[in-house]
Amino acid sequence: MADDIRSHKGPRHVAIIMDGNGRWATQRGRPRLFGHHAGARRVREIVEACPDYGVEYLTIFAFSTENWKRTQVEVAGLMSLFRRYITKEARALRDENVQVRFIGDRVRLDAKLVSLMDELELMTAHCTGINLTIALNYGGRDEVARATKRLAQDVADGRLNPRDVNEETLPKYLDTCVLPDPDLVIRTSGEARISNFLLWQSAYSEYEFVDTLWPDFTAGEFGRLMLSYGARDRRFGAVKA
Ligand code: IPE
Ligand code: IPE
Ligand code: MG
Repeated sequence: MADDIRSHKGPRHVAIIMDGNGRWATQRGRPRLFGHHAGARRVREIVEACPDYGVEYLTIFAFSTENWKRTQVEVAGLMSLFRRYITKEARALRDENVQVRFIGDRVRLDAKLVSLMDELELMTAHCTGINLTIALNYGGRDEVARATKRLAQDVADGRLNPRDVNEETLPKYLDTCVLPDPDLVIRTSGEARISNFLLWQSAYSEYEFVDTLWPDFTAGEFGRLMLSYGARDRRFGAVKA
């Protein structure tokens, strides 16, 4: 490993909005699902690159609460891809010591997919390597609304005093309660928006918007972003002495 990699201060938690699969397929005259399949194949390389840069948490946006607005063919194809992906990758993820979690609302997902998600979480719960979080039927606003509902229920049941609700209380109700906030959020495909991803958690994240379409995103490009992160000055509202 090169010295510049070993000595740099990298992000502990990287979150990625994997965007551009559809355009990648269209550019090749192929259906959008062709791009989603190509995109899914990129994930492993990025997961495997994480330890080289000291990244402990990787969170990837696979399907948003807004993506249901797409055609039935695309949505069904994506759901089938997720089922196949989990079935196919489960053993390799466990063997690579990757601890997998899912965030998002499972209520709208089909029972077969949810049971595969539960199984994969269980199967990798003991793993001590990279923490891979897959956001599936995830929306930041939906997550905050669901968290608020549970918080309100605790108040109604007398388990929580409204006077004790503060910035530390609410995150305990979020899907990400066991994760640190992302240090760096990357979005591929040239769009400079967050599309409802990790709204609460990314309040102080750094952002990288890159033009590469997700199926073309390589470990090499990921590595360059990890190294340039080290040059950033994160002030969190304070002034350096
Ligand atoms: C991202 O790629 C994957 C999902 C949102 C499921 P897109 O499907 O959004 O690709 P573009 O943005 O249309 O190119
Ligand atoms: C965000 O991408 C969601 C995922 C990558 C899963 P979209 O392609 O859905 O976002 P918009 O519609 O361009 O904002
Ligand atoms: Mg898109």
